[in-house]
Amino acid sequence: RLLIVDFGSQVTQLIARRLRELNVYCEIHPFQKVTPAFLAEFAPRAVILSGGPASVLDVDAPRPVPEIFTLGVPVLGICYGQQVMMQMLGGRVERGTGRAEFGRAHLQATDAPLDLLEGWFEAGGGREEVWMSHGDHVAALAPGFSVHAASNGAPFAVTADAARQFYAVQFHPEVHHTPNGRRLLANFLRIAGFSRDWTMAAYRDEAIRLIREQVGDAKVICGLSGGVDSSVAAVLIHEAIGDQLTCVFVDHGLLREGEADQVVSMFRDHYNIPLIHADEQDLFLTELEGVTDPETKRKTIGRLFIDVFQSHANRIEGARFLAQGTLYPDVIESVSASGGPSVTIKSHHNVGGLPEKMGLELVEPLRELFKDEVRALGRELGLPEPFIGRHPFPGPGLAIRCPGEITREKLAILRRADAVYLDQIRRHGLYDEIWQAFAVILPVRTVGVMGDGRTYDYACALRAVTSVDGMTADFYPFSAEFLGETATRIISEVQGINRVTYDVTSKPPGTIEWE
Ligand code: XMP
Repeated sequence: RLLIVDFGSQVTQLIARRLRELNVYCEIHPFQKVTPAFLAEFAPRAVILSGGPASVLDVDAPRPVPEIFTLGVPVLGICYGQQVMMQMLGGRVERGTGRAEFGRAHLQATDAPLDLLEGWFEAGGGREEVWMSHGDHVAALAPGFSVHAASNGAPFAVTADAARQFYAVQFHPEVHHTPNGRRLLANFLRIAGFSRDWTMAAYRDEAIRLIREQVGDAKVICGLSGGVDSSVAAVLIHEAIGDQLTCVFVDHGLLREGEADQVVSMFRDHYNIPLIHADEQDLFLTELEGVTDPETKRKTIGRLFIDVFQSHANRIEGARFLAQGTLYPDVIESVSASGGPSVTIKSHHNVGGLPEKMGLELVEPLRELFKDEVRALGRELGLPEPFIGRHPFPGPGLAIRCPGEITREKLAILRRADAVYLDQIRRHGLYDEIWQAFAVILPVRTVGVMGDGRTYDYACALRAVTSVDGMTADFYPFSAEFLGETATRIISEVQGINRVTYDVTSKPPGTIEWE
């Protein structure tokens, strides 16, 4: 496996994504954690030093332990990684003169060919487009290093000590704006001798082996939300240990139309996984009566969920483990640039906090995977395609799509409007282009006219966004025709709504959900 030492670049995760696409298993660890003991235990076959926001010229600049360079394995330094490597190996880095090189740049090869650059400079008249983003730059090479490509702003854009298999580049090969970056990373993997055989089928077999080893003959409880992550985790664990697994599905009354039935029939009937369907709609909706503050809604739901889950789980005799669909992005410890606490925008609700309360050990078979890898694993496990491609749905459900007081009447109207909206999106073949789409019922009634009569009904807002990770998002540019047709359908098919608006806020400054 390959070790990525993180110095806090915004795009470190992309390095891991690219390597996994090349069928190599890798892990990201913050530089502070990579001690000599860690290295001995991890035994990487190759190391990549990421970019980062710091300057190596600062006294407290983050540095890897020097043992990285005595492991005898190939090392690739990217951007900050290049600079820190040069500095530690005896070269010199200079502070930028204020004109940081940022954005597209063109590399020109020097006449010293390099195995890392195989396949580069063949097309496009001996130039390669790359993505640069740096202030400081290397000013003198470390002993043993030579230059293999340069750009106008970076005379040491690609440097290497091929004998020691140390490579250091100033640009970012992991981003899409470096079109041939994948080739460079593939070359690095070849140099390091990786066989590139890490596939989902292999992951599945290995995960099943590990689950069996961890669990033995104990029982496992899994909280099922109906989302992709917990579903894939449940099916995988069921494959490993069969009926030692029991799933608990809490219906809080804030699910979408037909959702509870779908989950129950898929898991209980199709997969034959023992499933407790906790229908607690009354409890949740009663507790939420009169609650209008978004954070109070979220906290109420989170608290009740834990209580309900716990009471059902307690009835499963001999349960020692709790399964969770935790993904890799939740696990990666981030290198915080500011070091300070970040502001809570929304208290996210999931099953976090449960295991300590219940004295259970965790089983998290997806903790090494990115979202699209979880989808690939779901396919490998035979989960139906429409299910795998489903948009994310938040733990607090429709509660945060119903600003103001939540009533059964409003929820019923919202469910219908949401279903018609999604049906429209599917009919027009747009579902897979969109990250998330949903309706929101607004806490206002407006006047309308239908037939010969006056109406006084709720207004709803439609939301659809594109995003790669939910952290930032753009509103989806539906055609006016699509929006008009959808509004007409919602108003004629959903009793209780007489006005439809489209939310054109991106994130930031908006968030995806309304609350
Ligand atoms: P926001 O609204 O913060 O949402 O822009 C970003 C993504 O997170 C989802 N979301 C949640 N998911 N529990 C979840 O599991 C939550 O409490 C929660 N709140 C928001 C949201 O749907 C979007 O995909």
